[in-house]
Amino acid sequence: MAAMIRKVRYTELMEGMLIGEVTELSMDYTMLTPETLDFVRQYFAGAKARVLEEAGEKILPVGQLKPFDQLQGIAEIPSQSAIAKVSAKSGEFLGRHGLLEFMVRIPKEHMEGMPSGERLKIGSAEARRLHQMRLDEARKLLSVMQKAPEQRARASSAVEELLEMGRQGKISARGVEEVVAEIINTGSTRALKALAGLKSSDQTYAHCTDMAVILQDVYSEILSLSGRGAAAANKRFALVAGFMHDIGKSEVPREVLESRERFDPDSKEMYLLRNHVTYGAKILQDLGMPAQIINVAHYHHVKIDQGLLNSYPQVKYDNVLPMTRLAAIADVYQALIGRRSYKRNWVPGKAVEYLMGLAGTEFDKKTLEMFIKVMGKYPVGSLVRLNTGDLGFVMALGPAEFPERPLVAVVENASGEILSSHTLVDLMLDPEVGVEEVVDHYDHYNQSEDQAFNLFMSVNAI
Ligand SMILES: [Fe+2]
Ligand SMILES: [Fe+2]
Repeated sequence: MAAMIRKVRYTELMEGMLIGEVTELSMDYTMLTPETLDFVRQYFAGAKARVLEEAGEKILPVGQLKPFDQLQGIAEIPSQSAIAKVSAKSGEFLGRHGLLEFMVRIPKEHMEGMPSGERLKIGSAEARRLHQMRLDEARKLLSVMQKAPEQRARASSAVEELLEMGRQGKISARGVEEVVAEIINTGSTRALKALAGLKSSDQTYAHCTDMAVILQDVYSEILSLSGRGAAAANKRFALVAGFMHDIGKSEVPREVLESRERFDPDSKEMYLLRNHVTYGAKILQDLGMPAQIINVAHYHHVKIDQGLLNSYPQVKYDNVLPMTRLAAIADVYQALIGRRSYKRNWVPGKAVEYLMGLAGTEFDKKTLEMFIKVMGKYPVGSLVRLNTGDLGFVMALGPAEFPERPLVAVVENASGEILSSHTLVDLMLDPEVGVEEVVDHYDHYNQSEDQAFNLFMSVNAI
């Protein structure tokens, strides 16, 4: 009987399908913990594992997997095994365990009326349904946005205070934890992340705030893509880890920290600067912080290629936990978009492009792919010019299949007039309208971040 092989997400699994391969796994599998390993061994006995090693990908029997292997996929799943036969509960079960995409055999009688057969098209009924969700997302962003600048300032002073306390040898994380709780409660990380891209933040503390909200937003988004959602504790961890990742800088003399000089790699200053990671780990250990948070502070500068000058400390890459790998990317991304004074800064869309070039040498490829996927081609808050000549801010990302088609609030028309009431253009609705280019908001608005920022804050299109 004719059957068809197709790639499906866990949400598209239907009774009667037969799973042959797992082609995408959530981030937890980039380093197998003993629990995930037990799960894989139990359910995929007899299958083959695709594992990433330094030399490249290796295929080995699932029984030979070891803790901390980097699992990329599972192949040759025995067709008689229970996990291969899709039941009504399979999708939910597999998604919950971080197994996201599969190659399946679909028996012919199942092929009619398959939802995945109908791809999302621009202007289709599906696109209109999605449009409502995207509007909701933009509305949510706007509703918390007014609070965001004040929260950002408060978070930055909490980090500043923390570093100051560190300098005086007494430290308490209370201030930071309060801000963290508030940000989580108001659900404003998305708005704070948009601000990070619009207004530069040169000092260490503002860097930590912006990096933290980027890390937290991306981390939660990755977890929710995997179908499990981020537990509140994990969201908090990501935020705290971001705020505290450079806490060790409190042990570095201020004049070294604030110097614009490029220090020699062998200089005493460089030694001190690089050691902020060890100091940081020690401080957090003394505070009794969870291992995951300490790992971020300790290893956020470790690169895959340890021969790189900017990779430190020397440690096996396996020790760098998934959240830390993500933190390393968020750290560099924030540094790119956040500094205006001595280096041209990058608009978010360009920074994402730049990061892509660092896959495999600096950053773990899979983590970077997820970071980019979640940030979007045009991150929220980016200023883009449409092919109609209109200029607007991205308010919601394009769907996964159409990352180049975000939802845009038009703030300036083709003749350069700044508008006082704004229209939302969903690029999924009309195939004729698209993004022409990313515009540097700083250059465009007379070398003034404030003007771009105020304009973004004034968006009233809903
Ligand atoms: Fe750092
Ligand atoms: Fe940093």
